[in-house]
Amino acid sequence: MSINKEKDFGTPVSARENMVTLEIDGFKVTAPIGTSVMRAAASIGIEIPKLCATDSIEPFGSCRLCVVQIEGGRGMPASCTTPVAEGLKITTQNKKLADVRRGIMELYISDHPLDCLTCSANGDCELQDMAGAVGLREVRYNPIETHLDAVKDESNPYFSFDPSKCIVCSRCVRACEETQGTFALTIDGRGFDSKVSPSQNQLFMDSECVSCGACVQACPTATLMEKSVIDNGQPEHAIITTCAYCGVGCSFRAEMKGEQVIRMVPHKDGKANHGHSCVKGRFAFGYATHKDRITKPMIRASIKDAWQEVSWEEAINHAASELKRIQGKYGKDSIGGITSSRCTNEEVYIMQKLIRAGFGNNNVDTCARVCHSPTGYGLKQTFGESSGTQNFDSVMKADVILVIGANPTDGHPVFASQMKKRLRQGAKLIIVDPREIDLVKSPHVLASHHLKLRPSTNVALINALGYVVVTENLLDQTFIDQRCDVTSFAKWKTFVSQDHNSPEATESITGVPAEEIRAAARLYATAKNGAIYYGLGVTEHSQGSTMVIGIANLAMATGNLGHEGVGVNPLRGQNNVQGSCDMGSFPHEFPGYRHVSDAETHQLFTQAWQAELSSEPGLRIPNMFDAAMDKSFMGLYCAGEDIAQSDPDIKHVHAALRAMECVIVQDIFLNETAKFAHVFLPGASFLEKNGTFTNAERRISPVRKVMSPLAGYQDWEVTQMLANAIDYPMNYGHPSEIMDEIAQLTPSFKGVSYEKIDQLGSIQWPCTDEAPEGTPTMHELTFMRDNGKGLFMLTEFVATAERVNGKYPLILTTGRILSQYNVGAQTRRTENNAWHAEDRLEIHSHDAEDRGINSGDWVGIKSRVGETVLRALVTDRVQPGVVYTTFHFPESGANVITTDNSDWATNCPEYKVTAVQITKVSQSSEWQQEYQAFSENQLELLEQGINHG
Ligand code: SF4
Ligand code: SF4
Ligand code: SF4
Ligand code: FES
Repeated sequence: MSINKEKDFGTPVSARENMVTLEIDGFKVTAPIGTSVMRAAASIGIEIPKLCATDSIEPFGSCRLCVVQIEGGRGMPASCTTPVAEGLKITTQNKKLADVRRGIMELYISDHPLDCLTCSANGDCELQDMAGAVGLREVRYNPIETHLDAVKDESNPYFSFDPSKCIVCSRCVRACEETQGTFALTIDGRGFDSKVSPSQNQLFMDSECVSCGACVQACPTATLMEKSVIDNGQPEHAIITTCAYCGVGCSFRAEMKGEQVIRMVPHKDGKANHGHSCVKGRFAFGYATHKDRITKPMIRASIKDAWQEVSWEEAINHAASELKRIQGKYGKDSIGGITSSRCTNEEVYIMQKLIRAGFGNNNVDTCARVCHSPTGYGLKQTFGESSGTQNFDSVMKADVILVIGANPTDGHPVFASQMKKRLRQGAKLIIVDPREIDLVKSPHVLASHHLKLRPSTNVALINALGYVVVTENLLDQTFIDQRCDVTSFAKWKTFVSQDHNSPEATESITGVPAEEIRAAARLYATAKNGAIYYGLGVTEHSQGSTMVIGIANLAMATGNLGHEGVGVNPLRGQNNVQGSCDMGSFPHEFPGYRHVSDAETHQLFTQAWQAELSSEPGLRIPNMFDAAMDKSFMGLYCAGEDIAQSDPDIKHVHAALRAMECVIVQDIFLNETAKFAHVFLPGASFLEKNGTFTNAERRISPVRKVMSPLAGYQDWEVTQMLANAIDYPMNYGHPSEIMDEIAQLTPSFKGVSYEKIDQLGSIQWPCTDEAPEGTPTMHELTFMRDNGKGLFMLTEFVATAERVNGKYPLILTTGRILSQYNVGAQTRRTENNAWHAEDRLEIHSHDAEDRGINSGDWVGIKSRVGETVLRALVTDRVQPGVVYTTFHFPESGANVITTDNSDWATNCPEYKVTAVQITKVSQSSEWQQEYQAFSENQLELLEQGINHG
């Protein structure tokens, strides 16, 4: 059985508006100017044979299989490179054309292994299809020289490269350049000697290749092929779903054989990714069936006991009775829950409903607390809505792109590829980052300005940019007058133009030369369209919310809001950060960001949920830990989140978890938090459930069950069982019913339903009566604040309490890497470890030399709160005085050293700024040794439970 493939129109769609009409094989067709004859023909069902053309990349015209004849024209032009024109009369089929095509195919096939029947691409090979399409029956040539003995490159863990099957169509080379923007492949040599390879004839794994899979996708033969297809055979059916990794939210076709995922193919109609992917979504799905999956519920009385496998009923009843017991003993507010941005909207919604309506308090918080809570606060205050303003495609209209504290090529790779495409078209780039991220300089992309500021000085820098805009009169006064609160603007103008905010005055704080700041401010402010993208390098600071407000001020002051190509765009880390916040995961807000004390909202939910609800904000995550130490918070339901690895000052977190009487963890693996748990409820991976995720552009996309849940239930069903067991009845039959309730109770989701999502593919909220198909650009005519005006707020720079001194002279900052994801629970259980198998400490060569440190040495990293040990990587990507690490491996203990400093408004931890000292050491830290012993013991207790279950 062969799978239905997505239609390939041969060349990309034309964005031009003017249309022309022509005739192809006697049929009239109308197409936009700029369309190829090949695409116009395909649009009316006439498939012209092709090999070197595919609709994700620009045509190249090398194979000449697609030749046609034009009435009154000369020769046989290639239809992929011939644009449509008014009145053309095209013939795509006649004997002459057929002879030419057969001749071309004969040449190709004479240098191709004739092993179709046993080839892994059999049934999914365009060369094979074309041989059939042109009616090739015999090959008369018997070339003396062939490429049939070319050596395979199996170095990439996910795909193989078999050059004996290559037809040198260069689709892979162009996909790597145009779609991915990495330029890892070249065609070396000429004529017969020409061959494709990673540059300098390296192996794929030794090259610049980032394993995005675009070349594999583009290859028309079995030359570049997924190993999962080679091992398991061709897929038989496909289901559209959404990647469960980052906030780009790429759409995929899960191509299946029965219940086995054979490959994940980026979906061409996916509006966030347009058929592109990164190594995580494309290849790193094997964790879903990893042997470490726990598929039976387990309980134990103490974390010193072995786990005991029990039935679902027993586990749920035990969890419910423990929660009730704790509330009976310590009071109603002594329990709560933590939701995860890895869960679907529907799961998060019913979990916060269970806590508010079933537990009777508002002790619900989410991992967004530790990443983008300042975004929610800052954008709500200034614009009136806690979300990014644009869709991703908007970047293609930006003229100047300002990236602050984000590393898109690692954190949001598919969006980074789109951004790089725009930059190659000529848009200008400004980077604000302490570190030289890849985007600063990549093939055909060079930032106009890299403002290499000192960590913790964002607000001083944004004020300096504002100072230049105001004092050099680069303001968009019309926008300000018409769209903003002018009183607040006047105050901001006075504040920001004070001398202490000038680039010259802030230079000693930020370390960025004043002229560089002035030039960057001018570039952004004078752009026709200036767009800002930012990440956790903005939010995870003691002034995270202030910086978000500063960014909003700058965009309003320059009129860069309300249409395509501009905006303020938070790049969300995890797949459903936006959604988990939208769904009411914060202790002070019901779904839709409405305060729990707001009388009307309170009444609405009380009635709808038929429960007595508290109007007091509940505990935030750090307050839950503090309360646990005070013995006033003793029971926790934590679904999909790994607080014991991801939260700051981890020793405090571990102590708090140990202090609780019942920790219930719902997850797919025995994660770090589960090592402190008393009840384990096995979760389902994204492949095993139905629901929706909302990405960084507010796009609600479908998550669809492609295989049965390994533990028998989808996560929303488990939460529902727990709700019923604590006597708060829930009776949803399908997640679509949960979405219907969300839509009924949340104005910005009013028009959302599964039916509409299926019909449109995805929807960007707000989706209302006025915008029934969603809203790509926010704040087009008015802001979402009550009076419709954007609010300027003052952003005085206040230095963090975390200071360097003689004892702790360096600043540690943290970030992500492409191949690993967040706490690594998923990606560490895939072949992605081939790229990054441990967290390393990046240190500048000067600082390394001072301390006698070489790359690969073990170094101790000591902060005011703790110490850990990592291996060093000496690099000039970081500036002197700054060290950097990723945090994907629990044993790294990055959060042993991060402090409990946090954002003044939201408590988002200041992960990005920790004063440390680095020394060369020979063994792991005391904490690492203790934690390793604890961890090993927990795995033994798991083993004992499974073996006796
Ligand atoms: S996998 Fe991606 S980065 Fe690597 S060669 Fe192919 S297109 Fe280029
Ligand atoms: S590897 Fe595939 S896409 Fe690349 S040139 Fe060869 S046949 Fe074409
Ligand atoms: S860019 Fe993000 S959403 Fe897209 S495939 Fe990669 S991890 Fe998944
Ligand atoms: S498909 Fe047009 S020249 Fe190859």
